[in-house]
Amino acid sequence: MSNIVLKAVTKKFGDVKAVDQLNLEIQEREFITLLGPSGCGKTTTLRCLSGLEEPDSGEIYINDICVFSSEKLINIPPGRRGLGLVFQNYALWPHMKVGQNIAFGLRKMRQQKEVREKIDKILKIVGLEGYDDRYPHELSGGQQQRVAVARMIVTEPQIFLFDEPLSNLDAKLRLRLRSELKRLHRDLKATTVYVTHDQIEAMALSDKIVIMQAGVIQQIGSPYEVYNFPANLFVADFMGNPHTNLIEGIVRFERGRAAVRPEHHPNIAIGIGSPPPVLQNGSRVVVNIRPEDIDCSHSTNETGIRYRVYTIQPTGSEVLLHLTPVESGPEIMVKSPAEQCKNIEIEAIVGIIFKRGNVYDAATEQLLYSFGF
Ligand SMILES: Nc1ncnc2c1ncn2[C@@H]1O[C@H](COP(=O)(O)OP(=O)(O)O)[C@@H](O)[C@H]1O
Ligand SMILES: [Mg+2]
Repeated sequence: MSNIVLKAVTKKFGDVKAVDQLNLEIQEREFITLLGPSGCGKTTTLRCLSGLEEPDSGEIYINDICVFSSEKLINIPPGRRGLGLVFQNYALWPHMKVGQNIAFGLRKMRQQKEVREKIDKILKIVGLEGYDDRYPHELSGGQQQRVAVARMIVTEPQIFLFDEPLSNLDAKLRLRLRSELKRLHRDLKATTVYVTHDQIEAMALSDKIVIMQAGVIQQIGSPYEVYNFPANLFVADFMGNPHTNLIEGIVRFERGRAAVRPEHHPNIAIGIGSPPPVLQNGSRVVVNIRPEDIDCSHSTNETGIRYRVYTIQPTGSEVLLHLTPVESGPEIMVKSPAEQCKNIEIEAIVGIIFKRGNVYDAATEQLLYSFGF
């Protein structure tokens, strides 16, 4: 059963289409993330779903109940949609203690003892046992955000909505709380819609990622799918850290094999296996190859295309190499295990091999073919 359905939802602000004909189905218990650069319409989508924003057109269903329809003039207010929201800024009541902040959502509950038990249970879930007598300013950012999460889940909403809940926290806390949100989802099994611009966070948390750009969905898929098989060049470029390598070229069928050859660089050929039916000899394409999908060896024997090391950036377990071509060709970035690169120095000549990647139509920018997977 689909828990949430958005049908052709559009929201404009003046001339800006913040959300443009958005269609999305979210299954029960699914953890789905809206991912995309700032301004792509993530928050607006979430606000339309929650009822804080009224779409210009479209329909929204929650548990098969229409909560919004521009045509049928339905617009159920936020408080009656069964949702819990957590935003980037924790928005706790500063003059209320932790326990009071959490109890605020329970004010309809008459029984003092029942409220007490609930607060204790929730504080335990978010790892803040014994903190109920503190004021928000006596807590760290991470703890405040836990209180915000506690305040949301205490009302037992069927659906959790998060809008960049970890963005205000430092890197370490972000990792810690990320892990706890994942655990929370496993334990409470609530359908979750999560918004972030951070692709690593999205991949770490989600069952499914929805990648947006300019109010339009670019791809919906598992973290594995959107990372390894980006549907178009925007997704290929957006996913991946550091930047992926996008190399333009022409498809050439040569002696039963297919290769992509960048124009004006006859020394470079990216082998893509036997000629696939979806590609034509001579067609113009862009190849996406992730830095970690390029083999780089110190030896400059006959294997590989010759590149010169321009910079070396160690990142701990891995090393990022910026390479420039010895003969001619595009510059490339390579990511290798640090152990493999410990003898490589700046200005060294290395041989590189493209292991796997995706081929896009240069005109439509859509994925045509993936090789080496
Ligand atoms: N209240 C508003 N008034 C005018 N424009 C808005 C408003 N909210 C959002 N927008 C615009 O809509 C677009 C999408 O914004 P938003 O949904 O906040 O993006 P995101 O959350 O992905 O960063 C942006 O161009 C933004 O400037
Ligand atoms: Mg936003």
